[in-house]
Amino acid sequence: MDLDLKGKSVVVTGGGSNIGRAIVLAFASEGANIVIGDIDTNQAQKTADLALQLGAASATVQQTDVTQYDQAKALIKAAADKHGALDVLVNNVGWDRLMFFTQTEPSFWQKVIQINYVGVLNCTHAALEVMVPRNSGAIVSISSDASRQGEPREAVYGGCKAAVNSFMKTIAKENGRYGIRCNVVCPGVTIPSSSDEVGGTSMWSDAGSMFTPEQLEKVAKALPLRKVGRPQDIANAVAFLASNKSAGHVTGQVLSVSGGYSMIG
Ligand SMILES: NC(=O)c1ccc[n+]([C@@H]2O[C@H](COP(=O)([O-])OP(=O)(O)OC[C@H]3O[C@@H](n4cnc5c(N)ncnc54)[C@H](O)[C@@H]3O)[C@@H](O)[C@H]2O)c1
Repeated sequence: MDLDLKGKSVVVTGGGSNIGRAIVLAFASEGANIVIGDIDTNQAQKTADLALQLGAASATVQQTDVTQYDQAKALIKAAADKHGALDVLVNNVGWDRLMFFTQTEPSFWQKVIQINYVGVLNCTHAALEVMVPRNSGAIVSISSDASRQGEPREAVYGGCKAAVNSFMKTIAKENGRYGIRCNVVCPGVTIPSSSDEVGGTSMWSDAGSMFTPEQLEKVAKALPLRKVGRPQDIANAVAFLASNKSAGHVTGQVLSVSGGYSMIG
């Protein structure tokens, strides 16, 4: 599909694994220039190599911890310096461990808040600094359907993702006058097809975090579309929202890509 993303300068955070990896590959097939910001440079480099094979104009890796503002700024600067601009930022990094709130402690809450919310603030702030003067840009943040209807064992994570939804709407309102569009995609359960698609820092890296086939069947049965999500499903929605050709008049929206798990009017 030609989404007019050829040659665009795109940053994808957490682009090494699973959903971020599929997002990188979707931009690669459109011929974009991609910088992957990830803490796991090994896995990110594997994704970058694949992106080049699929037609990316360029694909490079910048080691980045999005919870650190200086590193978020350096990531955006690297893309803007290399490609003369930043057209698209995808805030994809996220992390959680499934536990009831009463089983968790403040150190865990802080980690979840830093990765899922502060990381988005850091990268978005840095991106706006280069997008506003050019009067153009698109930001897509990956939230979760856990943000839309309380999800047991995802209390703090769901709260952070709800904060991301609200934050992005405000940023959309504040920056629409500069031609900058900001949208959110909420995945439901979205599983990698194989262990090659995830690195050691992925939420899916430890065997215990993977669903058993029986559990997956149960999840799928509860969804209107009767199937769990694949990373490509999320990547397609991100590419659509990032493109001025397909979504040039869409901003401040929260789109669930979850097989119908949540349906918000
Ligand atoms: N997979 C799902 O079922 C699902 C469901 C709902 C929402 N989401 C959201 O989708 C996004 C991607 O999920 P995923 O399943 O692909 O995750 P993942 O754990 O497989 O991949 C996350 C990537 O982010 C990187 N990363 C982690 N912390 C980082 C940091 N501080 N700085 C930079 N990079 C960091 C990891 O190295 C990894 O490459 C997340 O925001 C997640 O919350 C996922």
